Amino acid sequence: MIDPRHTDWWRDAVIYQVYPRSFADSNGDGIGDLPGITSRLDHLDRLGVDAVWLSPFYPSPQRDGGYDVADYRDVDPQFGTLADFDRLTDGAHALGIRVIVDLVPNHCSSDHPAFQAALAAASGSPQRALFHFRDGLGANGELPPNDWPCMFEGPAWTRVTEPDGTAGQWYLHLFDPSQPDWNWDNQAVRDDFESTLRFWLDRNVDGFRVDVCDALVKADGLPDWPHPTHGVVEPIDGRMPPMWDQEGIHDIFRSWRRVLDSYEGTRILCAEAWLPSERTARIVRPDEMNQAFNFAYLEQRWDAVAIRSTIISSLQANDVVGAPTTWVLSNHDVMRHASRFGYDGTVALEAGVGADDPQPDRALGLQRARAATAMMLALPGSAYLYQGEELGLPEVTDLPDDVRQDPVWERSGHRIRGRDGCRVPLPWEATKLSFGFSSVSSSDTWLPQPDYFGPYSRDSQNDDPESTLCLYRRALEIRRTLTGPIRWDESAADGTIAFARGDVKVLANVNGEPAALPEGASVILSSSPYAEPGSQVPPNTTVWFRCEEA
Ligand code: GLC
Ligand code: CA
Repeated sequence: MIDPRHTDWWRDAVIYQVYPRSFADSNGDGIGDLPGITSRLDHLDRLGVDAVWLSPFYPSPQRDGGYDVADYRDVDPQFGTLADFDRLTDGAHALGIRVIVDLVPNHCSSDHPAFQAALAAASGSPQRALFHFRDGLGANGELPPNDWPCMFEGPAWTRVTEPDGTAGQWYLHLFDPSQPDWNWDNQAVRDDFESTLRFWLDRNVDGFRVDVCDALVKADGLPDWPHPTHGVVEPIDGRMPPMWDQEGIHDIFRSWRRVLDSYEGTRILCAEAWLPSERTARIVRPDEMNQAFNFAYLEQRWDAVAIRSTIISSLQANDVVGAPTTWVLSNHDVMRHASRFGYDGTVALEAGVGADDPQPDRALGLQRARAATAMMLALPGSAYLYQGEELGLPEVTDLPDDVRQDPVWERSGHRIRGRDGCRVPLPWEATKLSFGFSSVSSSDTWLPQPDYFGPYSRDSQNDDPESTLCLYRRALEIRRTLTGPIRWDESAADGTIAFARGDVKVLANVNGEPAALPEGASVILSSSPYAEPGSQVPPNTTVWFRCEEA
């Protein structure tokens, strides 16, 4: 059971991300749902995670995988009901697993009643003031109000047809045109989101992951920004881009924190913001959010120098504000790390791969992914896992183009494939239809599963001590005993990373020469089948060991 006195649970929590559409389907429509998650909670329990974060399950036309919310305080019928949500939360809590839900405050769905009302209302109306409506530039208002690009390609503005049939104002959407940005300068928007927070807190959620939280406040006047706005955004001439990381976001976070702190137990806020570490750290000051994703870590290529320096800079940036650091290697927006590391060099994280593109080395990618995870799980702070990575699941890099759903695929004119490859339904039982995900076959799940998913299924790995699943379980179990800060072993050979936590030592041979363990080392965890005392730790391998004291 959840112990409300355990107020620091989040400081070293392992938080498992569920993407509800692809976790488990209970009713045979080929789409995962909340009862499906409840039916598989035993998996999370055995894995040993502390919390689960659910990507959006709210009513939504699913134009951006549910990050286009039409009603913030309900469950989409395709995922179940509020009663199903309560059963899921109660079931998780009974197993001691906390539940975090996704808050999407930057934008809603264009199907949201407030946006529909804004479209129906006049220019200058209070309905339109909930969003960013502006007249266009040019003689007839035919040009967008500024030069901001949409994150899914094209301009960040769409012109509306007014109720009388004339071409009218434009509205701002940093993402898909079906995702209009809320106007956070409007107190009514703030009040409405506070009600949403309370709605889910009253239903006993343990926290919120906050979607693109750095975009809520826009610079006054929405000035042009003739610089890039994608990826990790750096200040230029001392100024952040006018749509990211504006000073006003912090007051919003503080007000939310006060709401969360008024509830029993410790409920947390986790920031999604693709910013440089020093900027992200400002979001996790003591009275703001509790933690933030460490995307700088996720972005590192498989290189010991790059990874080690990112660990050091992440710890330093968070130490300044007294927040624990988080670690993450995969999520629903990026190529799974088991495939990313199967390429040499850096890869475009969100661009996707098609069947005709160069394919990753799947075996090498998995070996490195296991080594990367084993290292990550030994680091101090909190760690995020993405569903399926505990199965060593690869990115599906050969999805047929005609099944793609990521809005960027259409908006880029079929140039950017997008993020569907990491969202394919999970395999549970190798010999069942759709590998146990649903009662329909693999070609009828919302994204088709490839034939080669069988060996990755949970039941194929359950009792195999060498499996990726058993590696994760063991790492999470030992992780609970790791204490104290990181102590670096400065004598580590080139291409390796070596440190200790308490009496557990970690040697990650990333891209070095085979490395020897010290005399008397006894290995307690190895990311690849390495065990022999006295033998060398090969590259792409992480081992945890203890040394007998002389
Ligand atoms: C976040 C989500 C991503 C979504 C975007 C717009 O980055 O993780 O999936 O497309 O926000 O809501
Ligand atoms: Ca279903």
